Amino acid sequence: MKVKKLLAAALTGAMIFSLAACGSSSGGNSSKKTSKGTNGKNVGISMPTKSLERWNRDGSYLQKQFKDKGYGVSLTYSDNKIDQQVKDIEGLIADKVDLLVVAAIDGESLSQVLADAKDANIPVISYDRLIMNTDAISYYVSFDNYKVGTLQGEFIKDKLDLDNAAGPFNIEFTAGDPADNNAKFFFNGAMDVLKPYIKSGKLVVPSGQTEFDQVATAQWDTSKAMSRFQNILGSYYSDGKQLDAAVCSNDSTALGVTQAIASDYAGKNSILITGQDGDEANLKNIVDGKQTMTVYKAVANEAVATLDLGVKLLSGEKPDEGLIKDSGWSFDCSYDTKSYDNGKGVVPSYLLVPTVVTKENIQKELVDTKYYTMDDKGYPHPAN
Ligand code: BGC
Repeated sequence: MKVKKLLAAALTGAMIFSLAACGSSSGGNSSKKTSKGTNGKNVGISMPTKSLERWNRDGSYLQKQFKDKGYGVSLTYSDNKIDQQVKDIEGLIADKVDLLVVAAIDGESLSQVLADAKDANIPVISYDRLIMNTDAISYYVSFDNYKVGTLQGEFIKDKLDLDNAAGPFNIEFTAGDPADNNAKFFFNGAMDVLKPYIKSGKLVVPSGQTEFDQVATAQWDTSKAMSRFQNILGSYYSDGKQLDAAVCSNDSTALGVTQAIASDYAGKNSILITGQDGDEANLKNIVDGKQTMTVYKAVANEAVATLDLGVKLLSGEKPDEGLIKDSGWSFDCSYDTKSYDNGKGVVPSYLLVPTVVTKENIQKELVDTKYYTMDDKGYPHPAN
């Protein structure tokens, strides 16, 4: 019995290892195991999922940046499954990558596997999402997440002219995944702008759902956001009450909310709907007037910052603010040593700057900058 169990465990272990080593996680979309690049080094990139659009762009931009500099690259996607991501990272460590770039599915679940990376002397960059409770990560590269939320809040404040209009206006909130450290930053950023108007009664939240835990969306899932919003519309708006604004932390949730409004909202007014990322379907909705704005984050630049930071780390340096000037980036970035405490200490962070995109400035912000191309119907598509 004991022998059988051991054999089974060894077999499973071998299977897991070979799966992870090939990078073919259950997401099934990961690249094959790569050997060292022409410069003798290999970078392991662990992305959460292909099902949320932006990570496809991040993965391919990061892969290209590092490959162009002669690094071998192993890129894994973990199908939004926490255990899978742990296995994928174990595989990358077993592959002896020289650097790990990780966008966590659940910020709290990687402490053990990253302790293994630390033991193997592999530097880790926490990419976009802060990884919590570990001293194994050296740096954090992201956008100013709180600012993303304040841009959404300010947008609503300006469009409803909250300081002058009589109101009151009805508003609802949809936030992101509680397992993603970013989600609260986005929500708090928007709430901090809008809370005074809720307090004064200029904004009313008919559902009463104003706390993060009440409005969060597990895994940033579109259909979960849709069902929750259908319930809200059914419970609080079926008497003909007008909804004026829906603050959604990102585009995958905004898509669900927009679908719920299309199917379950009786009113005919146009509703202000925020988002984040510039996903294709959402940009189409913005052009068609079904979503009002998105906060765009140029992930191509996030990949450039990650590359330049990674190169320094691999040459044994301890970069600081000077990296920004030395690299001569064409985009703005700040070095922050205060905002991101992961429970084991403050993680030095390079934070890029997000931009508001609306129907009016899509051409200027997304197409003229060459991040997207415009098709002949006037809809933008990612350029790469
Ligand atoms: C990212 C957002 C994204 C969300 C869902 C967050 O961590 O910062 O850009 O919309 O995850 O993928």
